[in-house]
Amino acid sequence: MAYAYDIPFHVDLSGRVALVTGGNGGIGGMYSRALAACGATVIVLGRNLERCQLVVDEIVQGGGQAVAITADVTDEAAMLRVKDEVEQRFGRLNILINAAGGNVRSATVPQEQMADGGDATFFDVATENIQKELDLNLRGTWLPCKVLTPLMLGQEGACVINISSMSAFLPLTKIPGYSAAKSGVSNFTQWLATYLARSGVRVNAVAPGFFLTEQNHALQFNPDGTPSARQKKIIAGTPMGRYGELKELIGAMLFLVDERAAGFVTGVVLPVDGGYSAYSGV
Ligand SMILES: NC(=O)c1ccc[n+]([C@@H]2O[C@H](COP(=O)([O-])OP(=O)(O)OC[C@H]3O[C@@H](n4cnc5c(N)ncnc54)[C@H](O)[C@@H]3O)[C@@H](O)[C@H]2O)c1
Repeated sequence: MAYAYDIPFHVDLSGRVALVTGGNGGIGGMYSRALAACGATVIVLGRNLERCQLVVDEIVQGGGQAVAITADVTDEAAMLRVKDEVEQRFGRLNILINAAGGNVRSATVPQEQMADGGDATFFDVATENIQKELDLNLRGTWLPCKVLTPLMLGQEGACVINISSMSAFLPLTKIPGYSAAKSGVSNFTQWLATYLARSGVRVNAVAPGFFLTEQNHALQFNPDGTPSARQKKIIAGTPMGRYGELKELIGAMLFLVDERAAGFVTGVVLPVDGGYSAYSGV
């Protein structure tokens, strides 16, 4: 029995080993399930074993193959332990998806512009909180790539997919650390794609537009649960006039993973955004 999950099309990933960081999150969890539905053995990596295990149990009970592994993606020693464990258990890695990341609430600047006033400004945001956000999103992508891509050299269909953001193209207000980190993720994706181009490892990124998940909840909703003013701006800035549905991110990932479809595609940052990145707002 093959694990059944709602995917837009099937690609054959049987015999492939895939590791998804943030594999218990909104996007990472969905990508883990989609890869398993295509026959891959999926390593679901997160900081919380129980939450990773929930994704794994669902896949395994449905007839797929998955294991959970805990690590903080910003911790080099922890990632080196992950490398050893993957090497011992599977002997290789074919697919790496870096889906751990997100906004760090304490690094958010409350106002869009200084002229908006208010007590807390950009100048009051603690440097260590901005560093935390840079670390989670940039170091947390760069480090798994550095540590794990050696296991991918010479493997069939080897590819990395990073998760960038609309804030990589033009920074979003209130989240300077996140925006700087995600532009770094896009830039690093291009760099690593070039570096590994003749080694057989393709490196690409998906840049999601706006999807409602845990990591951006605080920016999208007021404390009383009503939609924030930011939501209206997002909808107005998205030509398709709506948020994306998470499942709409699956096709881009499956396309990039499948070497028959995307074997000559490396170094791209593929927006899945309802037209947001194409629209100047005027
Ligand atoms: N949801 C959106 O609209 C959107 C848009 C653009 C980009 N993204 C990006 O997509 C990625 C996934 O986000 P999501 O929306 O699924 O958020 P999410 O909060 O649902 O998932 C993020 C996952 O990363 C894990 N994580 C956080 N810090 C970690 C660490 N140090 N080590 C290991 N795991 C860690 C979390 O536990 C969680 O499982 C992020 O990089 C995010 O920035 C999301």
